[in-house]
Amino acid sequence: MTTNDPTKLTLAQLGADSPEKVATLFSELHSAFDRDAAQDIAAIDLGITRVKWLGRKSGIVSEITVNWLKPASKEVKPAVGQSLNALKSHIEERIAALAAAQEATAEQSAAARDKIDLSLPGIERAIGTRHLIRQTYDELLRIFSAIGYSVVAGPEIETPYYNFEALNIPEYHPARDNMDTFYMEPPPGALSASQTKIEPRLLRTHTSPMQIRTMEKQKPPVRIIMPGKVYRRDNPDATHAFAFHQIEGLAVDTDLTFCDFAGTIDFFIREFFGPGTKSRFRPSYFPFTEPSVEFDASCIFCGGSGMNSSGGNCSRCKGSGWIELFGAGMVDPAVYGYVKYDAAKLNGFAFGIGIDRLAMLKFGIDDLQVFTQNDVRFLRQFP
Ligand code: DAH
Repeated sequence: MTTNDPTKLTLAQLGADSPEKVATLFSELHSAFDRDAAQDIAAIDLGITRVKWLGRKSGIVSEITVNWLKPASKEVKPAVGQSLNALKSHIEERIAALAAAQEATAEQSAAARDKIDLSLPGIERAIGTRHLIRQTYDELLRIFSAIGYSVVAGPEIETPYYNFEALNIPEYHPARDNMDTFYMEPPPGALSASQTKIEPRLLRTHTSPMQIRTMEKQKPPVRIIMPGKVYRRDNPDATHAFAFHQIEGLAVDTDLTFCDFAGTIDFFIREFFGPGTKSRFRPSYFPFTEPSVEFDASCIFCGGSGMNSSGGNCSRCKGSGWIELFGAGMVDPAVYGYVKYDAAKLNGFAFGIGIDRLAMLKFGIDDLQVFTQNDVRFLRQFP
């Protein structure tokens, strides 16, 4: 096998029998390395250059150590040794310098990339508006916190116990039919071998379960409002949605009367719709209140007259002068039994306000669906 790579041959084979000839061979290698190292600093692959020249196994320096130095004759060996050391340090120094230079360039370009130009104009982002439901909720919060109510929140996924039973709505009670409920299937495997039944879960149909959860945890007196989303299996139309918002109110103390109740609601209605608005209540039925009532406000569209500007019936209140607002009542003593409150000593009242409904009334919106359609032309009307 022949080769014209001098590093694979011995000095004898190359005819280098004098220190001068050895020096020539080394100076050729020196130039060859300098050519390799003279590439563009960003492009040069120092890993490859290092392996080619300094690699332990077949790097050029190793090759000539084996092929040139080891078998060299006495006459040239010292010269070979010296030149080899000089070449090796030259290569090492040059590679180290190149590596440092490469690192510095990388740092520089990273710094240039990260630099923020404060003189450039910024990106202006449009500021949104609070959703009308949120605005209405904030207003309810303002009114009730002004008279000493605090806010609690609770789960949207409930058990039938909290959503119905503890609110005095036993299984098979017709009141359960009025609230078409989303029941949730237990996940497969949820029933362990020893269980025969697992308590079902449902999406709460009203915020009233929070009355129970709060009274279980808190001793009287209680004055709280409990806002949140509620769910019913209703088909969407102008006044129905499968998800909407309620705010529950509850006050329990030793000396609360129906007068406190009616006065509180009257205060709320005047604060919310304006000082000229009147309130009234009519008998109603809810399993967890006794007596139960339905609160109305004098019609805010016709001022309670029942008439429109041309003398016909007001279309909003259908000529009655009143608009139905929400259900409420004095807490049924049976409910206290579920939360270990002393029904003989305590009195209280509760109410359940539809936030969406109040917003529709106050702002004259006739379609519940617009709240969730995300049409900015609608949303922008209420900055
Ligand atoms: N939870 C009832 C519903 O969603 C509303 C309600 C009525 C709440 C009377 C109350 C109440 O707290 O006293 O239809």
